[in-house]
Amino acid sequence: MTAVGIDAIEIWTGKLKLDLPETFAPVKDEDPEKYTKGLGLYASSFPDAHEDIVTMGANAAYRLMDRKGLTPEDIGRIDVATESAFDNSKPVSTYIAGCLEQVYDGDFHHANKGERKFACIAGTQSLDDAYNWIKAGRNRGRSALVIATDTALYARGDPGEATQGAGAVAMLISEDPSLVELSTEQGYGSADETDFLKPNQQFPSVDGKRSMQVYLARMREALEDFESVAGDTHPDDFEYIPFHTPFPGMVRKAGLLGYRHMIRGTDVEDELAEEIGRQPREEEYDDREAYEEAILGYMDELKSTEQYQSWYSETIDPTLDISREVGNWYTGSVHIARASALRYASENDIDVTGKQLLVGSYGSGAQAEIHAETIQDSWEEEINDSTIDEQIRDRYDLSFEEYEQVHDRHNHDKRVELGDFTEPEDEFVFTGRGEMDERT
Ligand code: HMG
Repeated sequence: MTAVGIDAIEIWTGKLKLDLPETFAPVKDEDPEKYTKGLGLYASSFPDAHEDIVTMGANAAYRLMDRKGLTPEDIGRIDVATESAFDNSKPVSTYIAGCLEQVYDGDFHHANKGERKFACIAGTQSLDDAYNWIKAGRNRGRSALVIATDTALYARGDPGEATQGAGAVAMLISEDPSLVELSTEQGYGSADETDFLKPNQQFPSVDGKRSMQVYLARMREALEDFESVAGDTHPDDFEYIPFHTPFPGMVRKAGLLGYRHMIRGTDVEDELAEEIGRQPREEEYDDREAYEEAILGYMDELKSTEQYQSWYSETIDPTLDISREVGNWYTGSVHIARASALRYASENDIDVTGKQLLVGSYGSGAQAEIHAETIQDSWEEEINDSTIDEQIRDRYDLSFEEYEQVHDRHNHDKRVELGDFTEPEDEFVFTGRGEMDERT
């Protein structure tokens, strides 16, 4: 059977940076370590005045097409995943295609375009749609362009304000991919939840603490569902586990939950039994509350074992390097976690060809999806073509007052006039809603 998966990936970060410990913490009168150690974040990306979800998505997509030597005829599908859309009818993919058509002779008139919405998980759902389209043989030899693009803003003063971010990830989904092949097996955990939502509003109404519980509950269900089709998982099965990363502290909790689940009934649980005992089993308890308390105690012990800490630092921590510097990119977040891990492997000369990733996507509202990926032969060449390090380094460092102006600029209800902080260079720029975004 032909392998289908991600052939290429390009990332575009919003060109402005808010430093959390240096700039944000003092104004909020908070200990900087709340951000760096607690949430695990150092900075957030924001779009410059000439950027928005269309320009960021178009710039990532153009860079990808240009690098791979593609023309519009090679693309049979453009799917955009976003939860920052400004148009309730016309999908963002049409705006992005309009931008790209300015620089190519051909057009995308025979490509299927759409927009996917389910909070942050929509990026992975678009990936799945493209995978299914190719597997069904409807692609006529063409590839799909999947673009996850978001400006993750919270109301000023909201506890989520520290976890903002903005950027786009463009992915090329093809037969015989260079980067990763997707597994046919998937697991889902899905339920109607109201902890994070935006009914006709730009900024989320969010119950932050509850959203973290919902994330973990859905992720556990998705893992169980995945195992029901793919068989039991073991922590050593996976080189890296990229999770949806609203902030790295969330993934710290997801990693522990995943590990505890995966070691149940395995050699690892046996090895740890002497040090911390075996995991409590539900059938050993008459009441659920007592069982849950015992599990929390067990997890506390598990967290401090050397075995867990070394697994975490090898399998999870490398997925967080980019996120720490850019914040939450909503639909793009799990895809920068994958890129971060592969970049780490390359920088540290770790040969991961043929190794497995377990990818945990999540979207509020709420749904988690788990699938596996197999790293392909040309992964290193592909990941090293990304310019994310330079992009992160070159961002303009905002003062707090400038950050507030930028926030107001991207607030759909305010849209204040604001000059650029960076000079656009060989890129698409925002010229106004409903108009074509021009390339400089
Ligand atoms: P908060 O109440 O400001 O923070 O908001 P906190 O007081 O809970 O502190 C955060 C952590 O820092 C805690 O660690 C503290 O102990 C620690 P934890 O106990 O959780 O391990 N801390 C410190 N550590 C070291 N030194 C210190 C210090 N002070 C505190 N001095 C909250 C945190 C996450 C609630 C907030 O940022 C928020 O509401 N965020 C938005 C919602 C969110 O991101 N939820 C995540 C799950 S839902 C999701 O991922 C979906 C999403 O991406 C949207 C979508 O799908 O579309 C959001």
